[in-house]
Amino acid sequence: VDVRLDLFAEIERLKKEKNAIVLAHYYQEPDIQDVADYIGDSLGLSQQAAKTDADIIVFAGVHFMAETAKILSPQKKVLLPDLKAGCSLADSAPPELFRKFKEKHPDHLVISYINCSAGIKALSDIICTSSNAEKIIESVPKDQPIIFAPDRNLGAYLAKKTGRDMLLWNGACMVHEIFSLEKITKLKIRHPKAKVIAHPECEAAVLDIADYIGSTTALLNFSKKDEAKEYIVVTETGILHQMQMENPSKTFIPAPPNNACACNDCPHMKLNTLEKLYLCMEYEEPEITMNEQLRIAAKKPIERMLEISA
Ligand code: 13P
Ligand code: SF4
Repeated sequence: VDVRLDLFAEIERLKKEKNAIVLAHYYQEPDIQDVADYIGDSLGLSQQAAKTDADIIVFAGVHFMAETAKILSPQKKVLLPDLKAGCSLADSAPPELFRKFKEKHPDHLVISYINCSAGIKALSDIICTSSNAEKIIESVPKDQPIIFAPDRNLGAYLAKKTGRDMLLWNGACMVHEIFSLEKITKLKIRHPKAKVIAHPECEAAVLDIADYIGSTTALLNFSKKDEAKEYIVVTETGILHQMQMENPSKTFIPAPPNNACACNDCPHMKLNTLEKLYLCMEYEEPEITMNEQLRIAAKKPIERMLEISA
């Protein structure tokens, strides 16, 4: 990239010229959030992808998110600034292994968290996100056995909340697993008035001490309406950008990981940069493509989710 380019202006120009929309997840770097047309959590992003009339969707997020946009809007070109932006949670459920697991429990209904590949979606009955999971589970008759995949932490949290005994796939997110209960507790002693707000992908021990648990959008909304002045934020650091912008007089402290070498930035989300965003818009690649049979099979459970959460 020519260093003299004003990337913000160039991206705005390309959006207009190409009738492109930039959708960004809250875990993207601040510059990308500032240039996006819409910033949201997984549910909001998939709803936007389903309803946009843009010709090109530029997805500043990770692969499963861009894939979901393509599943919902196949006639549109979907671009992802870096195709290598994967997800440890999605990778923890390889479709072939999951198919075998599912075959062992033929009477179970499969509810999958949206953080999974199209292959897993195609093997699922309903998709959910962290903001609608309770509603989705409660839409299923009480005597219906459920498999929940791929996140065991979110699954255990939901099982406790809904009182449903769900069979959990043993997957987890590398970012949310590294938070240290001990370090958060020490931080809380130093900031006794701070509220702990956490994403449900965290382990149970961390969730047990949280004052509020929710999706990225839910955490942001809570930080706006709650009266506390300080928060310990137990999720990926990208969310702090909007929290700080929306609440300039409040303090947001990122929760510490379990060792000094670890970090609570998602290495996948952070593969996207403003430069890569500009280049992918200029050259219209890398593009998400998908086998049509797989797309149709993966679309059904996403549509069920969108219907239930409308
Ligand atoms: P939400 O933004 O839907 O809460 O998801 C968090 C996440 O880990 C996305 O990868
Ligand atoms: Fe996947 Fe975790 Fe990164 Fe979200 S934060 S994209 S769940 S690895």
